[in-house]
Amino acid sequence: MAQQLSAPESNMAIVKATDDAIRTAAQRLRAGDLVAFPTETVYGLGADATNGRAVAAVFAAKGRPSFNPLIVHVADHAHAAAIARMTPLALRLAKAFWPGPLTLVLERAASAEVCDLVSAGLPTVAVRVPDHPVAQALLAATGRPLAAPSANRSGRVSPTLAAHVEADLDGAVSMILDAGATPRGLESTVIDARGDAPVLLRPGAVTAEAIEEVLMMPLAVASDAAADRPSAPGQLASHYAPNAKVRLHATDVRPGEALLAFGPDAPPSSGPRVDLSPEGDLTEAAANLFGALRRLDQTGCETIAVMPVPMQGLGVAINDRLKRAAAPRG
Ligand code: TXA
Ligand code: MG
Repeated sequence: MAQQLSAPESNMAIVKATDDAIRTAAQRLRAGDLVAFPTETVYGLGADATNGRAVAAVFAAKGRPSFNPLIVHVADHAHAAAIARMTPLALRLAKAFWPGPLTLVLERAASAEVCDLVSAGLPTVAVRVPDHPVAQALLAATGRPLAAPSANRSGRVSPTLAAHVEADLDGAVSMILDAGATPRGLESTVIDARGDAPVLLRPGAVTAEAIEEVLMMPLAVASDAAADRPSAPGQLASHYAPNAKVRLHATDVRPGEALLAFGPDAPPSSGPRVDLSPEGDLTEAAANLFGALRRLDQTGCETIAVMPVPMQGLGVAINDRLKRAAAPRG
């Protein structure tokens, strides 16, 4: 372990997330290096959000269009308020869902120390307080807000294991803190909370129903036209894409296809297959989704046939990712 820590240039970037490793990671982040770390949703590619060069290195590592703003992760509500102007709506959402997989898009606070590049020059900033002990320990040890997009190459499937990060970003990260599979498996829900009423920018691990229940008001959904503007990509039509083609709403499996199954009525198949949740449990399916897409893709199949997933609760976010995985590649 000690040898791995002192040899960042080796391709053994994965390190078990012990207290020692977290301390080393914090030092590297403060020095401007990139460190991948687990959150409750997916692995993030972390950089000191106050350091413009470090944030620029994130865009370079991901091969991400530079107009795509990043989420800033902070330790708690007070740190969020130092960066973003918390509206009454934002305070209610934060109280209900932080720490947790909810990201709030807000106006930047005048005193915000995060670099402009983190919000791609927009007057807004996206913030969240993650609910994962390693993410929390890393924020505490670093003492800085951490910009962290999902730790995959731009447009590809998000990483739910340290090995996924290594496969996509090996060489670009100083260290990958490994804490096993990320429990939720789907990215955070992104809400524009600048006004009096919430607007859903990206469906995710917190369901629309849960948000509506807390606020006792309906959640508006950003129009696709708005979502496709460069100000809010992540919503780009083709995203989360495996190498294989993706055929949605499959009720059968054709020759040469791999099967991504859901629920008890999955058809028999002889080729590669992953069952997202044999019982039809949407939480289990969400946790398995990105790993399943990667596993099937690794079989070299030409097409992944995907069974229908119901459009309720977490099914909304699952279907959003599947639709983007199936979209024509741009
Ligand atoms: O669960 C997650 O959110 C993960 C983990 C690592 O925290 N992070 C993540 O980051 O998914 P990323 O960069 O892959 O997605 C960020 C999303 C994108 O859809 C982006 O367009 C949106 O947040 N976003 C960020 N800043 C924004 C802003 N100022 N205005 C509008 N949308 C913004
Ligand atoms: Mg992403």
